[in-house]
Amino acid sequence: MQIRAIIPDDHAALLALWQRTPGIQLRAEDQYEPFCRYLARNPGLSLLVESEGEIVASLLVGHDGRRGYLQHLLVDGPWRRQGLARALLDEALARLAELGVHKSHVFVLRDAPEALAFWCAQVGWGEREDIDVFSTRSE
Ligand SMILES: CC(C)(COP(=O)(O)OP(=O)(O)OC[C@H]1O[C@@H](n2cnc3c(N)ncnc32)[C@H](O)[C@@H]1OP(=O)(O)O)[C@@H](O)C(=O)NCCC(=O)NCCS
Repeated sequence: MQIRAIIPDDHAALLALWQRTPGIQLRAEDQYEPFCRYLARNPGLSLLVESEGEIVASLLVGHDGRRGYLQHLLVDGPWRRQGLARALLDEALARLAELGVHKSHVFVLRDAPEALAFWCAQVGWGEREDIDVFSTRSE
């Protein structure tokens, strides 16, 4: 089992994994071109776990120079509760820290109970009660 940086060629396998995983919300940005742009803008930060050539876990990681932003943390069903998500998170935070980014955020869907359980269990992570998130989209 190996953690490595995600590369553009991983897109098809990752998309298939994301599509069949409840709790992951896919967006236009998950298509190939925006996915590649995201990787190029955040080199070496997004990670996956591979076992015998199969992708079994992923985490997209970006930053804006001040804060890190984590998306699409997932571990395929049979591989859960073996510490893979925690390992991806530790590695991602270490890579962000090397870039001088020491604070990160993750947005968790309220109807994703496993995700909420995972994030509530993480030492050093706290649910924000002082912030509501507003979003917009421009074409
Ligand atoms: C959330 C998810 C990524 C966790 O992956 P994982 O590899 O199973 O998590 P870990 O093994 O690293 O868990 C670390 C700790 O988090 C907590 N935890 C993880 N999953 C949990 C669950 N389903 N219920 C309760 N606690 C949980 C536990 O404290 C666990 O430690 P323990 O196993 O020693 O008790 C996985 O369940 C998943 O892919 N869910 C579907 C996709 C999703 O919702 N992603 C989140 C997007 S924000």
